[in-house]
Amino acid sequence: MIIAIDGPSAAGKGTLSRRIASEYGFHHLDTGLTYRATAKALLDAGLPLDDEGIAARTAQALDLADLDRSVLARHEIGEAASKVAVMPAVRRALVEAQRAFSQKEPGTVLDGRDIGTVVCPDAAVKLYVTAAPEIRAQRRYDEILAGGGKADFGAIFEDVKRRDDRDMGRADSPLKPAEDAHLLDTSEMDIEAAFRAAKSIIDAALSRHA
Ligand code: DC
Repeated sequence: MIIAIDGPSAAGKGTLSRRIASEYGFHHLDTGLTYRATAKALLDAGLPLDDEGIAARTAQALDLADLDRSVLARHEIGEAASKVAVMPAVRRALVEAQRAFSQKEPGTVLDGRDIGTVVCPDAAVKLYVTAAPEIRAQRRYDEILAGGGKADFGAIFEDVKRRDDRDMGRADSPLKPAEDAHLLDTSEMDIEAAFRAAKSIIDAALSRHA
């Protein structure tokens, strides 16, 4: 049983996916971390981010058990990740590892950009979680301030739009809703409301599936 959750950056997919996985007792994989970990391994080794052969070998060597969210969350790593994520050979290596993960019992929740379209096209439930760019920028801004950091709203907003352009504009597996995905716009929802909306979509789909 696979639940696929896609959407742009800072739409709340991560928090929502973790809640859903815990609600159903499923394993969870944030596939963005696999792109981030590949980028970090290249940066740490002083290797170029734009050599597809080197990046693909680095992706193949990745162990999904080693993904540490707190280290990989850094902004520069996200930027670097969106560059390695355009390379087809990197995507092939990571998609293979993600598909293997998706088969775990009793079920899995995978979140990313291409789960419903490419990684798990036969997922039992597909959600496309989104929110207006300015709302996503505001949430990221609030998160940084709540953590005691300093932030520039304008710069974050530009960053969100640039990341959207890169994710939606790339030739290989661009971000877009699968034809059979349920759209969940969380612009007007807090996490609790988003979770309830997602749960009712999933429960309806699961009862059809049973
Ligand atoms: O969701 P995130 O910010 O951790 O993702 C980091 C980058 O990886 C982002 O630019 C998009 C890319 N990504 C992808 O191309 N496919 C996925 N399934 C997940 C993330």
